[in-house]
Amino acid sequence: MKRVLIIGATSAIASACARIWAEESSQFFLVGRNAEKLEQCAADLTARGATAVNVHCMEAADFAAHAVMLESCTAMMRQIDIVLIAHGTLPDQKACEQDVGTALVELANNGTSVIALLTLLANRFETQRCGTLAVISSVAGDRGRPSNYLYGTAKAAVSTFCEGLRARMFKVGVHVITIKPGFVDTPMTQGLALPTALVAKPEQVAKLIVEGINKKKNTIYVPGFWRFIMIIIRSIPVVIFKKINI
Ligand SMILES: NC(=O)c1ccc[n+]([C@@H]2O[C@H](COP(=O)([O-])OP(=O)(O)OC[C@H]3O[C@@H](n4cnc5c(N)ncnc54)[C@H](OP(=O)(O)O)[C@@H]3O)[C@@H](O)[C@H]2O)c1
Repeated sequence: MKRVLIIGATSAIASACARIWAEESSQFFLVGRNAEKLEQCAADLTARGATAVNVHCMEAADFAAHAVMLESCTAMMRQIDIVLIAHGTLPDQKACEQDVGTALVELANNGTSVIALLTLLANRFETQRCGTLAVISSVAGDRGRPSNYLYGTAKAAVSTFCEGLRARMFKVGVHVITIKPGFVDTPMTQGLALPTALVAKPEQVAKLIVEGINKKKNTIYVPGFWRFIMIIIRSIPVVIFKKINI
């Protein structure tokens, strides 16, 4: 039995992870911005074996709401074994290029909201001295590509933040895992023309995430072959990289 806080709990990847933990009779504090979807997730997890499920509506980019959420979660669960941060959006890169406001909203959705949440959570976990902070970043953060560099920037910030946080929290017995999915078949990627052979199912990714958390991995690429794809992408010389459109 685990006590699990999920932020972005209605995400397809997060829901698939939660289903695995529900089968272990876990308790949940589900955070999302859509009350109806949250209730559906709660009912689904209860039917699958969760022993307690509480839901909390919160817009992740509303920084002032974070502390209230964490207080509420702590009051329900006392100790938190796993936090999974899963919320995110796939921005329209062209729109971000045309409008500073859009770019900054997307940066908040995918980057600064995660950093703000982790800052609060880290202080809470430093007192607790156990548990795991699991953060969904992306392979997109490994190199800025012309097709999605706003999203990539936010995810790179999250990955770098997690790297520093991991070294800080290790000293107090708290584990930080950075999760870097490649293409996953979720609402986020619906309608995109992606190479079918490279697209994973949320259930497949969730299994790898739960395994990575259990094995206390530091950074995981999900599925694992993305580690090699990103080694290749990172090793393309700049003189060539700036001429290609990926
Ligand atoms: N799918 C992929 O190919 C892929 C690849 C790499 C990384 N990722 C990352 O994986 C994570 C999960 O995404 P997914 O693929 O499972 O997509 P998804 O099913 O579309 O889930 C995204 C979730 O984020 C929530 N969300 C977005 N902005 C929010 C905000 N400001 N406040 C609160 N909730 C917000 C959405 O809530 P609503 O339902 O209310 O909109 C939704 O539940 C994300 O961090 C994403 O960047 C995904």
